[in-house]
Amino acid sequence: MKKTTYILGIESSCDETAASILKVEGGDFEILSSVISSQVKVHAKFGGIVPEVAARLHIEKVLPIIESAIKEADLTMKQVDYLAVCSGPGLISSLMVGVETVKVLAHTFNKPLIKVNHIEGHLLSISDKLKFPAIGLVVSGGHTQIILAKDYLKYELLGETRDDAAGEAFDKVAKILDLGYPGGPAISKIAEIGNVSDLKLEIDLPRPMLDSKNYDMSFSGLKTAVLYKWQELKETLGKKDLEKSKVLIAREFQQAAIDVLITKTLKAAKEYKAKTVVLGGGVSANKLLRTEFEQTIKKTLPSVELLVPELAMTGDNAAMIAQAAYYHIKKKDFSDPLDLKSDPNWQLV
Ligand code: KG4
Ligand code: ZN
Repeated sequence: MKKTTYILGIESSCDETAASILKVEGGDFEILSSVISSQVKVHAKFGGIVPEVAARLHIEKVLPIIESAIKEADLTMKQVDYLAVCSGPGLISSLMVGVETVKVLAHTFNKPLIKVNHIEGHLLSISDKLKFPAIGLVVSGGHTQIILAKDYLKYELLGETRDDAAGEAFDKVAKILDLGYPGGPAISKIAEIGNVSDLKLEIDLPRPMLDSKNYDMSFSGLKTAVLYKWQELKETLGKKDLEKSKVLIAREFQQAAIDVLITKTLKAAKEYKAKTVVLGGGVSANKLLRTEFEQTIKKTLPSVELLVPELAMTGDNAAMIAQAAYYHIKKKDFSDPLDLKSDPNWQLV
């Protein structure tokens, strides 16, 4: 690898089209650009992601986004050394747009091509600060996994959700309460700012699998508990109180999900003597999750360092893809542009 290397990363696995230029100099990272075109407003009208709509928008955006990432970094395509693309897991038609585009670019411009797993991208979104062994909690709309990283590229899956991802549960609960899409930001907002001190109501929701001996989790039962509670309240409360009760449900739901995520992750950190715990994925933007993680680690595992991505790096982005690619480049783990295929179910471990 040259002393100064430029990696172009591309991400299109779900509903964000993203491109980024990462400069690597003597092993130090500098993100020169990270351009993200989010389709969230379009899908919000449908209450969730519509794959065909996502793919069509990716097709429109992918080249302009790549061009702006290169331009913002003040480079030309010629100066880019490596092309990295997320090839799974994700929505097949969304992945294909990024993957096929980058294959053509790699072939035409004769650049080495690196495929990156989306989960690995989230896991390595602050990769240069990791100390091993590290425990990663990747928590997004599609995944909820606790991963042991013994080193870069050496992972073991300790546990994952057996049903819905945590972000998916946020989205579904928001739908039940008619709070809009995506649910995570909507739920955390109403939980934080709602003032319902005059409403005499206790909401108690389960913490599924909190005390189970493994690192697996489950969020579907929690969502169903919200649904039943909501149906019960609709029959017993007046319109005004029902509206207010959303705040209490959102608060308790958020707390229940966070309790499970923190307990399981810290149990793993203790068991595997982790030096760092790293968060990644859309749900790691959650304010309460971030502060409670910080406080609990300080109290129970003070020697462990908690790494939390900047807000712009929590959701899907291409800087994380370029960063993860760096470790594959070091191992000369390249893909053939004529062979690479999108893999919607690609398991990292
Ligand atoms: O990583 P991401 O952008 O896409 C996937 O790979 O899935 O994550 C999106 C998920 C959505 O389910 C969204 O509701 C959730 O992240 N999310 C949040 C927050 N912001 C986004 N969940 C809880 N609290 C938030 N503040
Ligand atoms: Zn993601």
